[in-house]
Amino acid sequence: MEQLVVNGGVSLEGEVVTSGAKNSSVAILPAALMAGSPVTIENLPLIDDIITLKELIQFLGAEVQTNGYGSLTVDPQKANSFEAPYELVSKLRASYYFLGSLLTRFKKAIIPLPGGCPLGPRPMDQHIKGFQALGARVEIRHGCIHMEAEQLNGTEIYLDIVSVGATINLMLASVTAQGKTILENVAKEPEIVDIANFLNAMGADIVGAGTDVIKITGVKKLGGTNHMVIPDRIEAGTFILAAASTNSSVLVKEVIPKHLEAVTAKLKELGVDLDVGEDWIHVNGCSCPKPISIKTFPYPGFPTDLQSVIMPIMTKAKGPSMITENVFEARYKHVDELKRMGANILVEGRTAIIEGGESLSGAPVRATDLRAGAGLIIAGLMAKGETIISGVDHIDRGYENIEEKFNKLGAGIKRITEE
Ligand code: UD1
Repeated sequence: MEQLVVNGGVSLEGEVVTSGAKNSSVAILPAALMAGSPVTIENLPLIDDIITLKELIQFLGAEVQTNGYGSLTVDPQKANSFEAPYELVSKLRASYYFLGSLLTRFKKAIIPLPGGCPLGPRPMDQHIKGFQALGARVEIRHGCIHMEAEQLNGTEIYLDIVSVGATINLMLASVTAQGKTILENVAKEPEIVDIANFLNAMGADIVGAGTDVIKITGVKKLGGTNHMVIPDRIEAGTFILAAASTNSSVLVKEVIPKHLEAVTAKLKELGVDLDVGEDWIHVNGCSCPKPISIKTFPYPGFPTDLQSVIMPIMTKAKGPSMITENVFEARYKHVDELKRMGANILVEGRTAIIEGGESLSGAPVRATDLRAGAGLIIAGLMAKGETIISGVDHIDRGYENIEEKFNKLGAGIKRITEE
């Protein structure tokens, strides 16, 4: 297993280019199986989740051609299997998108319950309720979700919880259903809009993505297309927060600033100096951040994925800060790791109080999930001395060349093999 050794006490300088959005890409690849002819996808991030999805698609019989940096062509015409293997599915949460895509393609899907970051219970009841409403029979047997339908029929589905995964999965399952599907109380994340644009370019008829009601009129079939994935707002937010936390000057390029408004608003409250352009954000960190309060919410609220990433800067604020995690039940596993580095944090239910005024010191820590890992890298950059991060496989699932990108900004991060 690999570890990242982060040299602390550094200041970053320079520019970094944002990669394509992980949370779009991980749905677009399974969705490519629904096309009747080849699909080319550009600006895919070079991350482990994409490597796993490519293997899964090939396992299901589709042909995948690599065209160059971040570009793949998926030819789904020879796809011949509706059953995905546990070894690959268990590596990532997003493998649940094969439920929607295979149901549309074969009217059948057998998918083991997915893996992904341990953020507390992550039920799939809203996905399943939606598939059933569209006419699928769903059963869970021997750790696998089995689905089958003679025909999918458009219907009205109201999500009890705003869920990114259920919204996307139900879009995938209803694009060729007979008649009209209305999805209500859906998630509004930019990645959902990106996926709807991708499906519409393949011939689907989806309106309302990005609002809380999506209307889908079933079409007979989908064709091929060429799609450019949007920039990853969470990766961009990670570099923006890294610059802010280390009192550095960094230009983050290839971003859609609108997607980061909840984050830039909080940075301004912290006292961080920001310049925002059309597709870039320049950060000038501050030496003395102010304490702030954050509540995570579905988009356009403050993203839960940046909760662990903003926590390190709060440890040096002049006074106590507060985070309320409203999206996931147990997303504070990074707190114990930050405490090892000298942070003073109290967690009570969904709330964390970060004392502030502390100087972090390097320590051995473990990335318990993808974004926790990103937060620990930032804490390591802020700390005195060396921080050794294990659990790097979590980070590699979702960040492209993370140490390379940070090192180009002047960080000293080494990858070593754990003894
Ligand atoms: C997606 C993102 C993840 C992000 C999260 C919230 C991907 C691959 N992952 O995860 O990075 O942190 O959105 O923005 O895009 N829930 C239910 N029943 C369901 C579905 C969800 O109770 O059927 C609950 C979840 O347990 C959670 C909340 O709803 O508490 C939101 O989850 P959801 O939006 O579905 O997250 P994911 O799609 O898993």
